[in-house]
Amino acid sequence: MSVLEGPSVRLRPLVPADYPTVFGWYNDPEVVAPYDRFSVDTLDSFVASVESAAADPASLAPRFVLERRETPGPIGFVGHYVAHPVLEYVDVWYVLGDRAARGKGYGREAVGLLVGHVFATTSVDRVGATCDVENVPSYRLVEGLGFRREGTLRSALFHHGRWHDIYVYGVTRKEWSERSRPG
Ligand SMILES: CC(C)(COP(=O)(O)OP(=O)(O)OC[C@H]1O[C@@H](n2cnc3c(N)ncnc32)[C@H](O)[C@@H]1OP(=O)(O)O)[C@@H](O)C(=O)NCCC(=O)NCCS
Repeated sequence: MSVLEGPSVRLRPLVPADYPTVFGWYNDPEVVAPYDRFSVDTLDSFVASVESAAADPASLAPRFVLERRETPGPIGFVGHYVAHPVLEYVDVWYVLGDRAARGKGYGREAVGLLVGHVFATTSVDRVGATCDVENVPSYRLVEGLGFRREGTLRSALFHHGRWHDIYVYGVTRKEWSERSRPG
């Protein structure tokens, strides 16, 4: 699988040495799920899902770790998945596990690399993202990449004891290529 290089960050496939750190974040509701549903995983099932993800476009497993180019070592993880059984698009998701690394632009740069990778390696015409309407960093991240807010799913996700509304974002291949074009 590819290694994706940006100016400040790199996305690379997970290796076994990453599993304890990434699993720790993945299994920490304070890191991954202030605005999301959370269920406890086991290390064995986590590793099995990571190692089988390449063969499964719908896998929700992390596909890359995110690290700073200057100081290698995971600071987060990202994924992409075929999000609907009939409709043909891919959703991206993203977590900065190292909370001290948040708010510095690494998340947006990483998701930009990921979106470019999805368009380069699949035939989809739309990449999407969804987030809780209260997850300001998440929707600002994708808005800064040119995603458009396409709508709101009302009461679509139950977490933290109540139903939450979810924003739906998307960017088309044409929009992405025009955004990426120099000048
Ligand atoms: C969402 C997340 C990946 C953002 O990563 P990040 O590296 O901190 O984001 P960036 O530094 O690239 O900033 C992206 C945008 O969010 C804004 N932002 C970052 N932290 C913020 C905060 N605490 N409050 C409000 N806005 C914030 C930034 O200002 C920027 O927007 P702007 O350029 O329009 O001002 C990170 O907050 C995270 O891991 N959250 C927990 C997991 C999660 O919710 N993932 C998304 C699930 S849908």
